[in-house]
Amino acid sequence: MLTGGILVGSAGTILTVLMCKAMNRSLLNVIVGVFGGGGASNVQAGGTVREITLSDAAVLLSYSKKVVIVPGYGLAVAQAQHICHELDKVLEEKGVEVKYAIHPVAGRMPGHMNVLLAEADVPYEQLIESDVINPDLPNTDVVVVIGANDVVNPAAEDDPSSPIYGMPIVKVRDAKNIIVMKRGMGKGYAAIENMLFYNDKTRMLFGDAKSTLQNLVNEVKSL
Ligand code: TAP
Repeated sequence: MLTGGILVGSAGTILTVLMCKAMNRSLLNVIVGVFGGGGASNVQAGGTVREITLSDAAVLLSYSKKVVIVPGYGLAVAQAQHICHELDKVLEEKGVEVKYAIHPVAGRMPGHMNVLLAEADVPYEQLIESDVINPDLPNTDVVVVIGANDVVNPAAEDDPSSPIYGMPIVKVRDAKNIIVMKRGMGKGYAAIENMLFYNDKTRMLFGDAKSTLQNLVNEVKSL
């Protein structure tokens, strides 16, 4: 029992340290910090939010060469992993290359997205760590952000006053087109604004991730 306890404790410590590294925060800061409670930031919401219709999103995706899906906490909440895999399969049948950008702290536990997508039988080769896929994003036709927010927030690079400043992110804004699927303009875990949603290249597809993906799959199939 002692050996088992030591192994479990060590594994937990290693995962915690890895999580802190991925968030670019110290262990003390994670334990006593205000992250998640609405941290201060200089970024104010502003600009125009543009929406995309399901049929336009289906056309954009179907006629792309490279698509990268960025899953986040909202995908897990919606339990949309199976229908998400269905979307990647129908796109691949049309000759589109589809990969997933996996951020180490997307979701709410270490490896959350890997576990979720493995459960839906997404092949492991399609899951690419964010630092590895980032250099390829400028050549990506469409990035589809599904229920992710903080892990794609450019404030991590642009705003030194932001609580997430310095956290490595998926550099979604480098892609040619961005589709963001979420229910509304709700904030993420860090409770801060996300200027990605106001980016000229971004189109919002509002709704629960599971039902939106189901409708999108139907649209893509009907093309
Ligand atoms: P978040 O920043 O938490 O954002 C999730 C987004 O999902 C929300 O903005 C929400 O927007 C949307 N959403 C919620 N339910 C949805 C649904 N049913 N359908 C569609 N969208 C939905 O997620 P993230 O980008 O994955 O980042 C994770 C955060 O958690 C990071 O800040 C990370 O540091 C923190 N964290 C991670 C861990 C580990 S180890 N993974 C542990 C503790 C904390 P709407 O309300 O507008 O839909």
